[in-house]
Amino acid sequence: MSAPLIVGRALIKNYEGGRIAVLAGVNLEVQAGEMVALWGASGSGKSTLLHLLGGLDVPDAGELTVCGFDPRREAHRQILRRQHLGFIFQLHNLIPDFTVAENMQVPALALGTPQKKIQARARELAELLGLSHRLHHRIQDISGGERQRAAIGRALMNSPQLLLADEPTGSLDEVTGDLVFGLLKNLVRNAGVTVVLATHERRLAEQCDRRLHVRQGQIECL
Ligand SMILES: Nc1ncnc2c1ncn2[C@@H]1O[C@H](COP(=O)(O)OP(=O)(O)OP(=O)(O)O)[C@@H](O)[C@H]1O
Ligand SMILES: [Mg+2]
Repeated sequence: MSAPLIVGRALIKNYEGGRIAVLAGVNLEVQAGEMVALWGASGSGKSTLLHLLGGLDVPDAGELTVCGFDPRREAHRQILRRQHLGFIFQLHNLIPDFTVAENMQVPALALGTPQKKIQARARELAELLGLSHRLHHRIQDISGGERQRAAIGRALMNSPQLLLADEPTGSLDEVTGDLVFGLLKNLVRNAGVTVVLATHERRLAEQCDRRLHVRQGQIECL
């Protein structure tokens, strides 16, 4: 079997000089092609862990390898973020004045991809996500479900092998949430993308291949 896509060993993360202890020696492994849920109560540390995996923050201690890179090193974090992983934020973090297409194109601009190729990729993603009719609408003028799909499009722009999704359905009604969740599931099944998603909804966690329960600074495999 090939090496896991993510390996974390004894990861520790505290805030405010140690006054807030969040991750107290977390171990985890995620294989390529899996859809894994980080499931746990609000404040348990799901976003904190996803941020470490995505190189958006660094652990205080512990070993971490993601797609063969070490997110504790700045140079590795940059390559990881630009080329190997896509991040869907809890509050989607899209630019409200930009259109769906422009938001999706942002990660490709950092790579210097030719404009024609970027535009074609945005059209392809919009089609995949059922957003073709909204491609040139501004984010502030579209619905919550459409925004979340645009955020998925942005995360997929550079064709990452790993998608980290922080409560991707948290702000959506159940029907729209199921639609967005279904899109992520299809990416795993049909495009071979590995997905790690944070959720506090047991219903969604149960539809993933595996559940990692984040609790009291530790992870329990369910
Ligand atoms: N930058 C920060 N500075 C100080 N404390 C923080 C910071 N980020 C997170 N925390 C604290 O760390 C703990 C874990 O936060 P985290 O956002 O990882 O939880 P979560 O499981 O994602 O919660 P939710 O389900 O509400 O999104 C919380 O108690 C939170 O207040
Ligand atoms: Mg969170």
